[in-house]
Amino acid sequence: MTTGLVEKSPSLVVYQEEPLNAGVPAAEAAGEVTPTERFFVRNHGPVPAVDAAAYRLRVDGLARRPLELSLADLAGSFERVTVPAALQCAGFRRQELFAVTPIPGELPWGEEPAGNATWSGFRLADVLAAAGPEAGAAHVAFTGLDSCSSSSGETPFGGSVPLDKATSPEVLLADGMNGGPLPAVHGGPLRVVVPGYIGARSVKWVERIELRATPSENHYQSRAYRWLPQAETAVETAEMLGELWVTSLLVAPAAGAVLSAGPCEVSGWALAADGVARVEVSADGGSTWQAAELAPEASPWAWRLWRARVDLAPGGATLVARAFDAAGHSQPADPAVRWNRKGYMNNAWHRVPVEVAG
Ligand code: MTE
Repeated sequence: MTTGLVEKSPSLVVYQEEPLNAGVPAAEAAGEVTPTERFFVRNHGPVPAVDAAAYRLRVDGLARRPLELSLADLAGSFERVTVPAALQCAGFRRQELFAVTPIPGELPWGEEPAGNATWSGFRLADVLAAAGPEAGAAHVAFTGLDSCSSSSGETPFGGSVPLDKATSPEVLLADGMNGGPLPAVHGGPLRVVVPGYIGARSVKWVERIELRATPSENHYQSRAYRWLPQAETAVETAEMLGELWVTSLLVAPAAGAVLSAGPCEVSGWALAADGVARVEVSADGGSTWQAAELAPEASPWAWRLWRARVDLAPGGATLVARAFDAAGHSQPADPAVRWNRKGYMNNAWHRVPVEVAG
């Protein structure tokens, strides 16, 4: 499928054509690196046309030396670095929360909006150091060049992260993806990549970086992407989502597969903001567990591939995966405990029902 901006895989599942919201089934995105043509697209507004020659990035707010940088200025002044990192949308596996209680007005994403890429660009920390944060700076806000329609009206997309995170070396201003230039649909010519945080903080087509005392007032930070677990939770005081919660996906075999009894290879990926420590799999719906073998870590920010061999008894079986992060956090058994009004952050055990022939 051609989106007009980048050639995408023919197996793209399109949730919305305009703005484009689409991704491939998990089995096609999994692997050490998700090829660019299979990387999911999550847009709140149309992709803006950006003239790379005229493009300027403003860095201002609580800055001693406000900057205005062309793409050539960035390339000439800052070290180029490459970071393997996953991007995961807060709406990943929302469909399972719809099954608990429907969530009107939100896209019913399945397992598509997650991918693992090699991002190339400049450390945000270096650009912020050049701008010289003032003593009161505690948050870094990003604004895109797109125009999105929401309950706050027609605004650009934006968001912010705490200054501590913004100055971590893995946070990039990226102009490259998987060895090529960053495609327009993924935020080219320049986007923010905040590994370990919900995808919404990785602002595409970034045109302004503002050092602030408080989080961004943009709709997508101040209203959307908040944790609203109860009908009565007030938006203004609800937690703003940031760091991703540990998760794992059992990619193969696929749900509904008809398998033979006996040993069966299962595989998938896991992701945690501070690194994946352990993955466990179950072949009996979560009654008993065994440890999976983890592939070497490409970076603490990339997803971690895993595999295990389970023993299948004849009949129906539910394969399950769960991961643990370095601090010992894991995933809840039941998606109902993750239900929230916007359908974010479903990291319940990933259950895959299969048939086992005798
Ligand atoms: N940046 C802008 N300017 N506009 C957007 O709509 N969507 C965000 C984020 N950055 C968005 C954006 C969301 S919700 C996600 S999950 C990621 O971009 C998706 O990035 P991708 O489309 O490159 O996969």
